[in-house]
Amino acid sequence: MKITRILATVAALALCSPLAAAAPLAWQNKALNADARANLLVGAMTTDEKLLLVTSYYGTQVAWNEYRDPGARRQSAGFVPGVPRLNFTPQWQTDAGSGVATQGVAVPDLQRTALPAGILTASTWNPDLAVRGGAMIGAEARASGFNTMLAGGVDLLREPGNGRNFEYGGEDPLLAGTMVGAIVRGIQSNQIITTIKHFAFNDQERRRTTVNILIDEPSARMSDLLAFQIAIEQSSPGSIMCSYNLVNGEWACQNDWLLNKVLKHDWGYKGFVMSDWGAMHDTVKNALNGLDQEAGVQKPADYVYRDKLKAAIADGRVPMAVLDDKVRRIARVLIESGAADNPPTPDNRIPYAAHEAVSQADAEEGIVLLKNDGHILPLAGTARRIAIIGGHADVGVLTGGGSAQVYPRGGSAVHGEGPKSWPGPIVYAPSSPLKALKAERPGARISWADGSDPAAAATVASKADVAIVFVTQWTAESLDFPLTLPDNQDALVDAVARANPNTVVVLQTGGPVLMPWIDRVRGAVEAWYPGSKGGEAIARILTGKVNPSGHLPATFGRAASDWPRAEIDGLNRGEKEIFDVRFSEGAAVGYKWFDKNGTRPLFPFGHGLSYTSFQQSGLSAGVKRGTIVASFTVRNTGSVAGKHVAQIYVSPAAGGWEAPKRLGAFTKLTLAPGRASSATVTIDPRLLGMWDSARPGWKVAAGKYRVTLASSAADRGTSVIVTMPERHLPAGAGVAK
Ligand code: BGC
Repeated sequence: MKITRILATVAALALCSPLAAAAPLAWQNKALNADARANLLVGAMTTDEKLLLVTSYYGTQVAWNEYRDPGARRQSAGFVPGVPRLNFTPQWQTDAGSGVATQGVAVPDLQRTALPAGILTASTWNPDLAVRGGAMIGAEARASGFNTMLAGGVDLLREPGNGRNFEYGGEDPLLAGTMVGAIVRGIQSNQIITTIKHFAFNDQERRRTTVNILIDEPSARMSDLLAFQIAIEQSSPGSIMCSYNLVNGEWACQNDWLLNKVLKHDWGYKGFVMSDWGAMHDTVKNALNGLDQEAGVQKPADYVYRDKLKAAIADGRVPMAVLDDKVRRIARVLIESGAADNPPTPDNRIPYAAHEAVSQADAEEGIVLLKNDGHILPLAGTARRIAIIGGHADVGVLTGGGSAQVYPRGGSAVHGEGPKSWPGPIVYAPSSPLKALKAERPGARISWADGSDPAAAATVASKADVAIVFVTQWTAESLDFPLTLPDNQDALVDAVARANPNTVVVLQTGGPVLMPWIDRVRGAVEAWYPGSKGGEAIARILTGKVNPSGHLPATFGRAASDWPRAEIDGLNRGEKEIFDVRFSEGAAVGYKWFDKNGTRPLFPFGHGLSYTSFQQSGLSAGVKRGTIVASFTVRNTGSVAGKHVAQIYVSPAAGGWEAPKRLGAFTKLTLAPGRASSATVTIDPRLLGMWDSARPGWKVAAGKYRVTLASSAADRGTSVIVTMPERHLPAGAGVAK
């Protein structure tokens, strides 16, 4: 087996050379569709060749990776040898959502453009921009020799302290599914595939391999699974990555209900399921219950397929048809995407400046202006003396850690912070907000304090017209975090705010944090992890060159106890101990939970201020083709151009949902001062229904529904009432793009 694989690798390398042209084989006939070609390919394969395609090896060259393979791209996440005899491509797999990531160590010539974090892209509420960002990182993946990205995280933000919230799309199934689906469409426009992950309910990192998530089926279908369903139907991802955790008593990667029933049967998913790295457990259960490709194999003890699956097929525990189906799924998406016919060659030709402009445009639409008392922002021309404090703002902007870590061009601006080994160290993209601000305001006197000493920072702040404090919270895969800012930064903000009444705080965090000082500062800006050109984006927002238009994709609470679980379980659990976490909030995630309990958030879902003002009017709604369609007008009533996110919330007059209301639709409009624009949006009918396990499918109850046009989940807005007839939708009913 091992010899076969080495031969496969050697020949696979030859396949990439232009000299490897051979007479086309039957499966290579481009006149046939991908299904027919995949069938021909599978039909021509030996069992050993089929087995090659269902195992992915860890792609790094480190010594402890016993399967390091010369065919793998350097420091990459995964490698699947191809089938040289049949001219079938290897799979070169790379993380992830913010760009081409490097596993473990920074390799100078593997520096790539960092898109802002997924949560920032979700904050743009602009799917077209997300497509552009996805297309950019997908182009860098191809130029780096990858045909498979591991990007497309869509687990819902149930736990505000989850260390991977920065990779995901927030707390709402419609917003997260739409935005992540858009990123995936962009990535896959490069004749490569990507994977939507982590399927499913991987909503905490601590003890992620032993946590058993308990959730009832209707709640599951109406929350995290709906986010996955929407993202999948809008983007047809080549692959879905099953997660490390257990769901209702069974590991996700051998969970028949999740993989076979929900994903492949109900949703009709035709791509393949890959495991998270090492998330497989049992050859027969994995094979029969829906896992197509095991991934991240590093050691002989790790794998479940290869000779073990061959033996299970030989003695009848797994039918050959099951292996054929797996191989067909993998082959089909690689053929359909173009990845099989057009293998990527790592030419490393990356138009950095153009790509960084894409990253910056994303940042400029996703940074959220949270608070702006007395129009402290944009910085007035009269603000001649500006104090910049903390957060390494003199050199860079923060990025999130773990497998999604992109090493940006120029290398990290800060060294020696955070864990010494993975998921550390902490990396700052070398894009300094301070320097960018100096470039924007050449006439201003900009002073600097690193923030390590609150008293010294206060002295600097006291001599300025305005003080801008940069606070940071690094988050990372495999860890969860408290909601309080680390390193005494709350005290720093307090000290500065006491010294200067004109204090603005710029946050770089991976998710919601607590802001005990919020009433004592005049302005607050959530910049998330803003990517390769984040410093420039922040400066342009602060000065008003860019009018902020980001809106929160997640609720910011006032205390950890505002959320269903004030603490993430797992800290005191043994490494191998399987323990339950019950999602008793069901589908009432985020603002739905806050609404249901009447809890007033610090900043609500959907919130985001602008330097102009908008007026929403003329809401009307009716039923068309079995669902609600709403129309309205938005006018820019201020004096500068801006972008407005109109949000439609829906709720049944009779109640009975998991929470009072749901986001039903949204649209982002660009408006010059004084101009108005009309918009019409359609509510996905699943958002008007409840999951009915008996049917199974969605049931929209007959009756009156309130349709509200608002600018956040806490805004009363204006409402109209629409009467819907009863309606049933099958489990897989979707609104494809
Ligand atoms: C992560 C995945 C990632 C994989 C490969 C795992 O630890 O959970 O998101 O794609 O590693 O790096």
